[in-house]
Parts: sequence; C-alpha cells; structure tokens
Amino acid sequence: MRLDKLLADQGFGTRSEVRKLIARGCVQINGNTCRDSSLKVKENDEVTCLGKDVEVVSGKTFYYLLLDKPDCVLTAMEDPRLPHVGELIEDRYRNRGVSPVGRLDYHTTGLLLLTNDGELSHRLTSPSYNVPKTYLVNWTGGPLTDADVRKASEGITLTDMDKPVKLKPCMIEIEKDDQARIILTEGKTHEVRRILAHFGKEVTSLRRISLASLNINEESAPGTLRELTPDEISSLKQAVRLI
Ligand code: URA
Repeated sequence: MRLDKLLADQGFGTRSEVRKLIARGCVQINGNTCRDSSLKVKENDEVTCLGKDVEVVSGKTFYYLLLDKPDCVLTAMEDPRLPHVGELIEDRYRNRGVSPVGRLDYHTTGLLLLTNDGELSHRLTSPSYNVPKTYLVNWTGGPLTDADVRKASEGITLTDMDKPVKLKPCMIEIEKDDQARIILTEGKTHEVRRILAHFGKEVTSLRRISLASLNINEESAPGTLRELTPDEISSLKQAVRLI
C-alpha cells in the first residue's frame, strides 16, 4: 500500500497534508527517513510519523467513542481559548480523525458520540434519518401545560430569530413540575432551550441521555470516555440503515 494513503487512512491528515509531512522528513520506515510518498509499504515494515508508531493495515480503521461531556466544555476538537472536547480525547484517537457527531452546547452535558466514520456521522445528524435524541431538561418558570406538550408534538414554529423556523414534532414526557424528557429527531441550534423559551421557561440544566439505541447510564460521570462495544456499533448502523 502507498505510504501517503496509509498515513491519510490512519488519520495523519489529508493526502496532500501527509505528502508534505513525508517531504519534510517526518516519516521513518524501518529506521530510515523516507521522502517518497509513492513508496509501497509492506505489513512487516515499521513505520513512524512524527515519532508515533503507525499501524500498517490496509483501509481506514474506524473508532466509535462515547464521551459524557462535562459542563463548560466546547464541542470542538480545537479551540484557542476555551476548554474543548478535543482535550478529553487521547492522541491515538485524535490522530485518526475522530470528531464529534453533532454538537452539544457549552453548558449541555451527557452523551456525545465521536467517530471518524463520516457516513455514520452524516446519517446520525441528518434529520431525514429521524434518529431520536433524548434530553433530560430542568427549567424555571412554572410547569408545562398539556397544551404545551400537545403543541410540541404537532411541531411548533419558533419566531425567536430573523426567520420563523418550523420544528419537527417532538415528544415531551413530563417527570416533575420543572423536569421532563424531550425526544427530538433533528438538531437545530439550541433547539431544546428554544422550545422551552417558546413556552416561557428558562432551562437551568440540560443533559443528553440517549442517541438512537445508545444510552448513558445514570451513574455515568461527566468526562468519562469509552469505546462503543461491537453490538452498540451494529445497533447504531442498523438505526440509519448502514447494515
Ligand atoms: N438542544 C439545546 O438547546 N442544546 C443542546 O446542546 C442540545 C439540544
């Protein structure tokens, strides 16, 4: 397999970025610097890039991670100023191009999936696949009424920005006077906060507890990161018709 394809597949950058790394002498094969992007690498070759071992396997290796996102963390792999999820992910995943599937607000906690499987990521975030996402939300401003819940289930129109936005129907399951589970099948910006604001409430805490078949368990501690099990990956793929 070509050296530049191997490095791109293993997350060291795009083809043109890895060619630059190779030209700069950042890649060693069996201890010798190699500046030839087209060189064919064999499975028993020892390859390092920027001092890191490169696994010589053909094809891209996919990673699927579940992070319990803490409060006050930006959903971004990099940021010059603010704490961000990229800081909570080990280099061996970051180097393979793992990035968040969708976005949680700075103050939203809970289930955040990260992967370098672009097609799965696209389908899970596309409203056309109707993937349910469940949020546990607390608010101030008094209880939601039955009429509020019914309106949300029919699809409300938000008028809080320049243009009116028609939302897909969502399900609200009331738990307490100031707490509910909200199940959305799309991911408009600040959608839960805006739905609650539409009904005159202010969100005080927001936590995502499920995405399709994936759940975050009740004891889960913010900051926890783990790889998905093969069964969890299969269920997610089934949910978006990838298998
Ligand atoms: N809805 C919101 O308002 N914020 C989130 O982070 C996710 C859904």
